[in-house]
Amino acid sequence: MFGWNVAEASTFMPVQGTETAAQVDLLYAFLLWSSLIASALVIGGFIVFAIIYRRKTDNDQTAYISHNTTLEFLWSFVPFVIFMVVFGWGWYVYQDLRSMPKDALEIHVQAKKWGWSFTYKNGKQLAGEFLAPVGQPVKLVMTSKDVIHSFYIPAFRTKQDVIPGRYTALPFEAKKKGEYQVFCTEYCGDGHSDMLAKLKVVSQEEFEAFLQERDPFEDFAPLAKTGAQIYKNVCSACHSADPTKPYKGVGPNLWGIFGKERKFTTGATLVADENYLRESIMNPTAKIVETFTGSMPVMGGQKLDENQITALVEFIKALKE
Ligand code: CUA
Repeated sequence: MFGWNVAEASTFMPVQGTETAAQVDLLYAFLLWSSLIASALVIGGFIVFAIIYRRKTDNDQTAYISHNTTLEFLWSFVPFVIFMVVFGWGWYVYQDLRSMPKDALEIHVQAKKWGWSFTYKNGKQLAGEFLAPVGQPVKLVMTSKDVIHSFYIPAFRTKQDVIPGRYTALPFEAKKKGEYQVFCTEYCGDGHSDMLAKLKVVSQEEFEAFLQERDPFEDFAPLAKTGAQIYKNVCSACHSADPTKPYKGVGPNLWGIFGKERKFTTGATLVADENYLRESIMNPTAKIVETFTGSMPVMGGQKLDENQITALVEFIKALKE
């Protein structure tokens, strides 16, 4: 109907591209069937009782009914059990949708009005489509250049808002090779419905080959390398990135901070993730690491564009054993 072979549902639901999609569908089927049975019981009972106990003669008197403890208990307790099952089951599937796999393949996603672009760690960039290997956990690290968008892969039954000024993440593990449709699912202006992308899930070998292939006119450097250049030009005067020099300079040493707990002058602590690094670049006085004074000028980060910030974040992430 639409010309896309995958998003077009041949059955009731789109294809199940991940194990989690199958779980979501199972829960959905349970909700649908239990609701259907409940409405059949309620509406069916209503009709049956209306017929059996209808007024048959003018002298019919309504019986005096106070209550029935057994019935009242059952019609409260049975739905309660069903609701708790749905809650527990939903919680379980939700954990599966939202837990970030360790050592996942990270792909950076950038949204703008109205399109998606994708950047791999080696600097390879694609627009409107991207590749991912089958059977490997993938984590999309996403941000937007302008307004709020939302990244939606119906075949994976998962979506995540993409927000300007911060990173959000979406994990998945595709179980079947093929092409999957990506939609923007947050209204973002008149090009919203055209804001599409294709995900091509390929074998590990094909994926490796794709990462290596290089158009002779295409010039790209690994994100961390681009970030290293920015570090050298902008940050290195105040921040060391050398493990052998854990000196206390103007600013904290950047070596090995990603994934580590940071302690701030306020006494608060936080594990350094992408959003923390980003905030420290863009708004350096928001969280000041203890024993430092927070003398970094705000304009430093504000001059960087979205790609440069991502490169710098990737450089800092790479500063480890
Ligand atoms: Cu982007 Cu809707």
